[in-house]
Amino acid sequence: MLRAKTYQDAKMASHTNAELNWWIFMRISGVLLVFLVLGHVYMTFIQVSESDATFDAVVNKLAQPAWKFYDFLILLLATLHGVNGARYSIEDYIRSRPNRFWVKGVFYTVVASIFTLGTIGLFTYHA
Ligand code: HEM
Repeated sequence: MLRAKTYQDAKMASHTNAELNWWIFMRISGVLLVFLVLGHVYMTFIQVSESDATFDAVVNKLAQPAWKFYDFLILLLATLHGVNGARYSIEDYIRSRPNRFWVKGVFYTVVASIFTLGTIGLFTYHA
């Protein structure tokens, strides 16, 4: 994990391009997620009351490609942002190489399955 505050510091501290790119991604996705998720919670919880958030209402909403895209963007960005954040913690705390390998392997497999189910759910159901 890079503990840099500025882009210049990050560039100097990163050993690989991939690590620098993840550093940039975490900052951009973090800002985007604040707005995307606040909008999502506002629309699903405040604008629409709990009793209106029925299966049919959700299916009708997701019949519109723009909403599918909006939800997919949250799914994708939140998954990558969360997985990479957890990877930082795994690398910080699990010092033994074989343990790190197994923890990452199991964790990535679980997350990839959830992401796949989320994507199938969003794109395969038709009203
Ligand atoms: C009280 C808070 C929340 C409520 C009431 C809520 C409700 C819902 C509802 C009703 C849907 C169905 C689709 C739609 O209406 O767009 C949905 C989908 C989704 N929500 Fe939330 N949500 C909440 C918070 C969050 C947060 C904090 C995140 C991410 C960090 C999130 C991520 C998602 C994603 C990724 C989907 C699409 C799932 C898929 O079909 O693959 N939600 N949510």
